[in-house]
Amino acid sequence: MLPEIVAWTSSLPHDRALVREDLLGSAAHVTMLRRVGLLELADAEKLRGSLLAMFATATAGELELPDGEEDVHMAIEARLTAELGETGKRLHTARSRNDQVALALRLHVRDQAARTLGELAGLVDELAGRAEREIEVILPAYTHRQRAQPVSAAFLLSAWCMQLLRAGDALRTAIDRANESPLGCGACSGTSLPIDRDVVAELLEFRGTTANALDTIGDRDFALDWTWAGARVLLALSRLATDVIDFTTSEFGFLRIGDAIAAGSSMMPQKKNPDVFELVRGKSSRGVANLTALLTLVKGLPTGYARDLQDDRQSILETGPLVRGAVRAARAAMNHVTFDPEACLRGVSDGATQATDVAEALVRKGMPFREAYLTTGKLVHLAREKNVPLAKVGLDVAKSVHVAFDEAVLAVLDPKQAVAAKKSAGGTAPERVREQIAWVRAARFELAEKVGNVPELDALARNVAAEAL
Ligand code: ARG
Repeated sequence: MLPEIVAWTSSLPHDRALVREDLLGSAAHVTMLRRVGLLELADAEKLRGSLLAMFATATAGELELPDGEEDVHMAIEARLTAELGETGKRLHTARSRNDQVALALRLHVRDQAARTLGELAGLVDELAGRAEREIEVILPAYTHRQRAQPVSAAFLLSAWCMQLLRAGDALRTAIDRANESPLGCGACSGTSLPIDRDVVAELLEFRGTTANALDTIGDRDFALDWTWAGARVLLALSRLATDVIDFTTSEFGFLRIGDAIAAGSSMMPQKKNPDVFELVRGKSSRGVANLTALLTLVKGLPTGYARDLQDDRQSILETGPLVRGAVRAARAAMNHVTFDPEACLRGVSDGATQATDVAEALVRKGMPFREAYLTTGKLVHLAREKNVPLAKVGLDVAKSVHVAFDEAVLAVLDPKQAVAAKKSAGGTAPERVREQIAWVRAARFELAEKVGNVPELDALARNVAAEAL
């Protein structure tokens, strides 16, 4: 091949990041080949010894690979053959790069999704703890970015947790989808050699083996699930970031950011900018881009293998560091974000956010909701004309609008009461929010448990090394 074509078509600059996954997969493959009698003991020992030694060197970040190869898999094999001569040429028995690549990618996705899930669970745990402490703080909830109804800060924190947990669920799906061994599918239809795919699956702690070789070598659904899950985490963080960014402006003023995370302006001495949250939001576009790139890459490919699939690497390999970076930044930054309880309360006391509560109090007195809605609307109108908050209109004025208004109805204008009264399931009343926090904690615990069940690459390498040949 022309050197410039080799250079341009090589994935080595990207898939170097898969070096440990590939070495581990090859070490398991050697163990299987020996088990079924396709390798002599001496060859198997040499091959596995070299592969695991390279794994250790790669773990230390010191493995050098030859340039000028098509991908990391060829580079490793070239290095191995340079080291072991004839023996090195036996490694690729009953294997194609098609199933080899799929194996490295599945190991990568399973590992990265688990690590990401672990960090996400940590963030959710902190936000849940925060919710427990902010149950007394009251601020407006928004619809159409207009003040809507009073809620507790704990309720808002709990809402953020819910979205993050759903993204966690997507990560869990990605782990499950990746968790089948593709090795032994060969180029596209299996092999005539007497392999045992279960050996590799067991050594690498996969749930089992994939069912159809032709499907397997062109399957990137597990990678789609992974990039989708990554995008979902980033979208959840992005929306949280927008809330924080908005609420720290003097227009809202509900949140303050500490100096430890605030960025200045190079010109305006007074500025305390929430750059870290803007970057969390900004970087989420990379997550969406990775998902979109992979979707368009796979769309229209024929059944089987096509080299296009090599370009899945950027999307798959960028996702882990990108998402974990954002989770970590958000987690660290949230520790320096504090609610301003007085400003929060002003946000609901100033206006008419308790209007729905007044209407519902009239409903409790027997008025049909539509009439209660119009009646309360008149009161709101009047308050606006008088330029006073709804809570300050007074009973006389209210009575002039409708005789049904009394002390009990107007008592719900106290924001604390308005919040406490929303006892419906999923509502903002303190006892409901406590239930939500308990649910969040339990769901987070389940996710963390899932993480614990995914073996680390180092542990797998130790398992493989301990296996008799
Ligand atoms: N370099 C490719 C990759 O890393 C593997 C190519 C495998 N198959 C082939 N027929 N060239 O995805």
